[in-house]
Amino acid sequence: MAAQVEVYEGALDRGLEGVVACSTGISSIQDATLTYRGYTIEELAAKSTFEETVFLLWNDRRPTPEELSTLKKELGVNMTLSPEFVKVLKTVPTQNVHPMAWLRTATSLLAHYDQEAQDMSDAANKRKAVRLTAKMTTLVTAFDRIRNGKDVVAPKTDKSVAYNFFWTLNGEEPDAELVKDFDTCLILHADHELNCSAFATRVTASSLSDMHSSIVSAISALKGPLHGGANEQVIKMLQDIGSIEACKTWIARALDNKEKVMGIGHRVYKNGDPRAKILRTMSERLTKKKGEAHLYTMSTMIDDIMREKKDLLPNVDFYSATVYYSMGIPTDLFTPIFAASRVSGWLAHMLEQWKNNRIYRPRGKWVGKTGLKF
Ligand code: COA
Repeated sequence: MAAQVEVYEGALDRGLEGVVACSTGISSIQDATLTYRGYTIEELAAKSTFEETVFLLWNDRRPTPEELSTLKKELGVNMTLSPEFVKVLKTVPTQNVHPMAWLRTATSLLAHYDQEAQDMSDAANKRKAVRLTAKMTTLVTAFDRIRNGKDVVAPKTDKSVAYNFFWTLNGEEPDAELVKDFDTCLILHADHELNCSAFATRVTASSLSDMHSSIVSAISALKGPLHGGANEQVIKMLQDIGSIEACKTWIARALDNKEKVMGIGHRVYKNGDPRAKILRTMSERLTKKKGEAHLYTMSTMIDDIMREKKDLLPNVDFYSATVYYSMGIPTDLFTPIFAASRVSGWLAHMLEQWKNNRIYRPRGKWVGKTGLKF
């Protein structure tokens, strides 16, 4: 019998809870306050635009009007997917493929069409950051068009990312209020300190791998239901519950079965996620406008039950689900949209990592067998 090495109790924490893995100046969570580069998320949601937020995340300051106008133009122009690239995208299977899996592949393919993919100079990295951010949105909508046998819609290069999301998804002029609300959602999702996908980005980037590879790592991490995949699961849960009356019993059964209620709980926020508060208000307004106010009522009931029974609060994914649903966005695009926004944060993390890089190489505490003779 091989000897078992003793496992010390509490020597290693599962999930690195409370571990500070790097210094960062991009976004910060202090109790229930989230800031990007020193500005609260409430201020940014009310006063900024996604494009201005992207500049802020990448440059650690607000843009001048000229800088903002240049970034908007660059993003607009780079949203276009070349006919040659679209032709290749059409060969990638879409049926029975999760949109995040498709997005992962498509992002990887983007590198093959980027002449600067291997150029790690600062200037090239900044240009690639613009291209990746611009194209993540059009990749998401191209996926939906391609899987439905529709032509890919060319973005309007003088319009915002939020406008072009709906324009390239539906091929119709979107309502200004819808664009404004979606822009706010993009701001809310742009960065979030050292979350799982940002950490994945930084780990890959720390080996001095390239930008596209680091973004592919991040998309892979975001895909999971414990991270970005939760928003899609929330709407599925609401549809499965079916009615206001069924909420209480459904949640009680889920908790009895030790199932997780999606969109609830957070590793860091114990006194509430400020993004969820903003999205809750938006969800109330938008579900009412869509004539499906019962979805908001059901959400608030689940929110109350989880507070009371488990002392757990909603996170960003909980109310964003009904917000996106009310905007008419297909359910399985909820997580890809998260990527279309968060790509800006991932890139900020990459740029920060490379400014002061050292490869991530932690240790594993050995708990396996020792001294075996073969
Ligand atoms: N529903 C039910 N119980 C939950 C829960 C949820 N959503 N989230 C946490 N819990 C419970 C766990 O079962 C566990 O209970 P126990 O101690 O009795 O076993 C306890 O709370 C701690 O949960 P744990 O999974 O260890 O917390 P974590 O910090 O590792 O995970 C999340 C944080 C966000 C991954 C977790 O809350 C979760 O899985 N939520 C649902 C998925 C989600 O919404 N993800 C999006 C995050 S932005």
